[in-house]
Amino acid sequence: MKTSLKDKKVLLGITGSVAAYKAPDLIKALKEEGASVSVVMTDASSHFVTPLTLEIASGGKVFRGLFDEPMAHIALAREADLMLLAPATANLIGKFASGIADDLLSTLLMAFRGTVIIAPAMNWRMYENPVLQKNLGYLKKSLGVVEVPPETGKLACGEEGMGRMASIEKIVEAAVDALGPQDLAGRKIVVTAGPTREYMDAVRFISNPSTGKMGYALARAARRRGAAVTLISGPTSLEPPHGVKFLKVETAAEMRDSVLKHLRGSHALIMAAAVGDFSPATRSKGKIDKSKVNTLKLKKAPDILKEIGSKRRKPLIVGFAAEAGENLKRAREKLREKGADFIVFNDITRKGSGFGAETNRVVVIDKKGSTEYPILSKDEVSEVILDRVAESWA
Ligand SMILES: Cc1cc2nc3c(=O)[nH]c(=O)nc-3n(C[C@H](O)[C@H](O)[C@H](O)COP(=O)(O)O)c2cc1C
Repeated sequence: MKTSLKDKKVLLGITGSVAAYKAPDLIKALKEEGASVSVVMTDASSHFVTPLTLEIASGGKVFRGLFDEPMAHIALAREADLMLLAPATANLIGKFASGIADDLLSTLLMAFRGTVIIAPAMNWRMYENPVLQKNLGYLKKSLGVVEVPPETGKLACGEEGMGRMASIEKIVEAAVDALGPQDLAGRKIVVTAGPTREYMDAVRFISNPSTGKMGYALARAARRRGAAVTLISGPTSLEPPHGVKFLKVETAAEMRDSVLKHLRGSHALIMAAAVGDFSPATRSKGKIDKSKVNTLKLKKAPDILKEIGSKRRKPLIVGFAAEAGENLKRAREKLREKGADFIVFNDITRKGSGFGAETNRVVVIDKKGSTEYPILSKDEVSEVILDRVAESWA
């Protein structure tokens, strides 16, 4: 369970767009972040999604008519921490910008005093219409409304263009940005993730089973807490988290160069990548004839952590020690050897820990000692690590 929206009340307004069928997934995603979600739907939206479906998804009553519950338009507005309009029709955006309050949702918008996020969804002709753009511009500039812009792609009408509602992930990220803790705002953090590939020829390489999940989770969590994040990643099959600067590398040498380049002005380096320790002594241009190879000569790959850690001016450094067996002593040595501020130790032979797993069981080591954490999801481990980073800056 993620907790970025824990104890937060989101009032979700659903309007008459085809994209309303995505509302149950959006409700689910908001609840997964810990939010409680109250749903208000317009009459038009009920042509696209049923009140019953939304009631089941939200686990609560779905509000519809202005006169069904006489004071709902005030009570719901008073209780909510955030109003989210997704999908938002051109009609609703126009009403909101003009001060029209002729149904429950538009009246709630008039009574609500907190942050409003809107995710428009409509045909590209409607989205590009100067009236719609004028209304959106006014809402954003004068009222501080946050728009999660629509995406370009195939629309329900069969045409291509800008108008498809933003992804659920982007909408949830906007809600987290508006309501979640921002204790890393103003901080620049470089995160590395994934494996590296050390090539012996054009097609063969040495690598490791790192999936990048831990580093991607860290990058996402740091961005959500307000940091400007650069994620430098070896080859993975993961989607880069929304809102981070993303750089792809392959070899340990490329990762080193990229880290050095992007570290300037950064406050922290979190090295979650499983950087190769060895690489073939030479890299042939073509494909080596297998009958000609009996042994493979190796050389040490660059030790990025040590190189940065031994600099006089360095950011806060978090390293990872994936060790086989309970080799805490080795992890403690690593803290000193690499000049790191924290080493996150995990025993890759334990169940629910290490490469590819959804969870991790870590011990965080710093100069004062070590703290063992229970088995946690990689999102939760990220929060624990970032809590420690934030504490050391407090
Ligand atoms: C099949 C169909 C699809 C529609 N899709 C959209 C849409 O994606 N975006 C939009 O702004 N309006 C769309 N409309 C028009 C709105 O439903 C209409 O403007 C309605 O008055 C909106 O009411 P509401 O804002 O109270 O929900 C669609 C209409 C129909 C018939």
